[in-house]
Amino acid sequence: MTTVNPFVEIVSTGRYLPDRIMTNQDLESIVQTTDEWIVERTGIRERRVAPPEMTAAYMGAEAARIALERAGVTADGVDLLIVSTATPDRLLPASACDVQALIGASNAVAFDVIGACTGFIYGLTVAEGYLSTGRGKITLVVATEKMSSIVDWEDRTTCVLFGDGAGAALVRKSEGERGILGTHHQSDGKLAELLYRPAGGAAIPVDQDVLRDRSHFVKMAGRGVFKHAVRAMANSSIEVLERTGWEVDDVDLVFPHQANIRIIEATARYAGLPMEKVFVNVDRYGNMSSATIPVAMDEALEEGRLKPGMNLLLVAFGAGFTWGAMAVRW
Ligand code: COA
Repeated sequence: MTTVNPFVEIVSTGRYLPDRIMTNQDLESIVQTTDEWIVERTGIRERRVAPPEMTAAYMGAEAARIALERAGVTADGVDLLIVSTATPDRLLPASACDVQALIGASNAVAFDVIGACTGFIYGLTVAEGYLSTGRGKITLVVATEKMSSIVDWEDRTTCVLFGDGAGAALVRKSEGERGILGTHHQSDGKLAELLYRPAGGAAIPVDQDVLRDRSHFVKMAGRGVFKHAVRAMANSSIEVLERTGWEVDDVDLVFPHQANIRIIEATARYAGLPMEKVFVNVDRYGNMSSATIPVAMDEALEEGRLKPGMNLLLVAFGAGFTWGAMAVRW
């Protein structure tokens, strides 16, 4: 194992999950599906669904406030506020500006990162780069997703997979051995149409045809996504371990993007990571896109499973396609 000194560390985390639980049984009365099918193919048993009036910015702000409080930092001490979301409240301006206003981070530069399910890892990397230029000392990375607002509730192949929630991490310059030790990122825009929202952007603005075709909702070729997700997450995990100088045995805890238990298990198998070291909560929340990793880390901390000195592997895959992994000493 190498003894590289990290440049930045995650000081604290926070999470927010809407109260309303939607079970697989609830879904049986919305689309033609069964609890048995969903559990067998995805491992998901329930997910959270935000009420119509609750915005992604609101959820993100709630998670951010907790991360700030745990770090003992006030909102006006934040220099950079990054929001990762696939479900911005509005297309203009950035949701980061909305979160900034909600928490009172009046001195922060605020912008969004659109990396789909990989957005939290991309956001941490942007934070690392920004802090390394000396432009600021404290960054908040918030991942917040209201997936229930972009899935087609008439499409059983997608609506059963996703959930709402937010996670946040406070990042600052590392003063010791804790922090981000290695990263690997990749994207492949040629495969965008395997998982995307065809309409609703500037290319195809919403009109009567779009509403009739329901093409402003998420469309996905499930099998194609599955295959690419496993390969990309496994390769990215192996690559980041090599870059960090870690063996598989050096990893204490893995936080994979929580999309589907079968993707998580296959990734772990290909990368040689034992499932005992893999944190799983997809059964309770479904796929909350970029929010899954910070929510999982926050839960693992609360459960006492994530302990000081541990070596962590974060790994994600999402629409774009985007993917990436990060080695972190906690
Ligand atoms: N309930 C019941 N049946 C369903 C269903 C549902 N919710 N969704 C699809 N089916 C049916 C299909 O219509 C199909 O029926 P048919 O054989 O009569 O045509 C059958 O189940 C098999 O569908 P298929 O898509 O081949 O199933 P699958 O084993 O590939 O599982 C996914 C589907 C979506 C669970 C799986 O492909 C997957 O997890 N993909 C990755 C999705 C993902 O995680 N995306 C986000 C990545 S960030």
